Amino acid sequence: MSIIGKYPYTRLRRLRAKDFSRRLVQEATLHSKDLIYPIFIMEGEKKSESVASLPGVDRVSLDRLPSVAEECLKLGIPAVALFPYIERNLKTDDGRESWNDNGLIPKAIKLLKRNYPELGLITDAALDPYTTHGQDGLVNEHGEILNDETIEVLVNQALCYANAGADVIAPSDMMDGRIGKIRDALESSNLKNTLILAYSAKFASSFYGPFRDAVGSTNTLGVKGKETYQLDFCNSKEALREVGLDIEEGADMVMVKPGMPYLDIVKAVTEKYEIPTFVYQVSGEYAMLKAAFANRWLVEEKTVIEVLTGFKRAGASAILTYFALDAARSIQSAA
Ligand code: PBG
Repeated sequence: MSIIGKYPYTRLRRLRAKDFSRRLVQEATLHSKDLIYPIFIMEGEKKSESVASLPGVDRVSLDRLPSVAEECLKLGIPAVALFPYIERNLKTDDGRESWNDNGLIPKAIKLLKRNYPELGLITDAALDPYTTHGQDGLVNEHGEILNDETIEVLVNQALCYANAGADVIAPSDMMDGRIGKIRDALESSNLKNTLILAYSAKFASSFYGPFRDAVGSTNTLGVKGKETYQLDFCNSKEALREVGLDIEEGADMVMVKPGMPYLDIVKAVTEKYEIPTFVYQVSGEYAMLKAAFANRWLVEEKTVIEVLTGFKRAGASAILTYFALDAARSIQSAA
C-alpha cells in the first residue's frame, strides 16, 4: 500500500504552521506593479466631485491630476487609465468631441506626459462618454449600433490620443474588427510603438452602473443596454473567440471584464493564449465591496488584498482597480 498522500505522512498543515513557511510556499502574490488606477477627469480648476455610487473615487479637474500621478508613482503603480466626464453641451450623436485634439483627454495626456513621462497612460477608445445616446458606437434611425461606421470614428479617436502621447489605446467598444483597423492606422501614422490593450472579453454586465454615473452616461443611455455588441454573460467559448480574433488583429494585451464573476474566463484565456491578460475589477464590484465595508460587514484591507490576489491566481498579469492606491499602500506597509 502506498503511503503517498496518506495521513499521518502527509500533513498539509505542517507548511501552514509558521509564518516563514507559509510565505515561502506562496504561489500567486500581489505587487503594486500589477495595478492600474482608473481616473475620472473633468474640466475646471481645483475641483473634485464625489460620485455617490463610487465612494472614495472622485472626478478631478486637470490641475489635480499631477498629485494623483505622483501618488501612483510613489506607490509603484505603473500606469493609469484615463476616463473623461464630458459636459452635456459637448455631447453629440456622433461623439465628435472624442477626437478633438484640444479635448479633455488629449489635454490630460499632454500634461501628464510632460511632467511624468515614466507613468504609463491608457485611454479608452469608445464613444459612450461623448454621445447624446450613451452608446459606445454610432446609432442609426432604427436604434442599431453601426459597426463599420463606428470603427472609422474609433480610428480618429485612437490616433488623436496616440498623437497626444498615450502609451496604450484600449478599445472598449466591442465592434467587430476594430483592433485590426486601429493597428493599421497606428502603423501608417508612424505610431508603431503605441500599444493596444483590447477589451476583448467584455461582457454586457450590470456591474458598470457606477462607472456610467462617473462619466455621466447613465442618463444618456437610459434603460437601453449594450447586448448587441458586448458579450452575453452565458458564454465562455465566444469570449475565447473574441480574444483569438483580437490577437490576430494585432492586440498587445487583452482584457477580461468584469473581474470577480468572470474568473473562469481569466483562467481560460491565460491557459489558451500566450498573451498578457489584464482584468478589470469594475465599478460595480468596487461599489459592492465598499458598501459591505461601510456597514462593517467585511474588513476592508484584508478583503481587498484577497480579492485582487484571486485575479493573480487566475492568471491575470495586471488588474485595473479603483482599489489600486489602497492596495499599493497596504502592500507597502506590509513589506
Ligand atoms: C466604456 C467603458 C465602460 C467601462 C469601461 N469603459 C462602461 C460600459 O461599457 O458601459 C466600465 C468600467 C467600470 O464599470 O468600472 N465603453
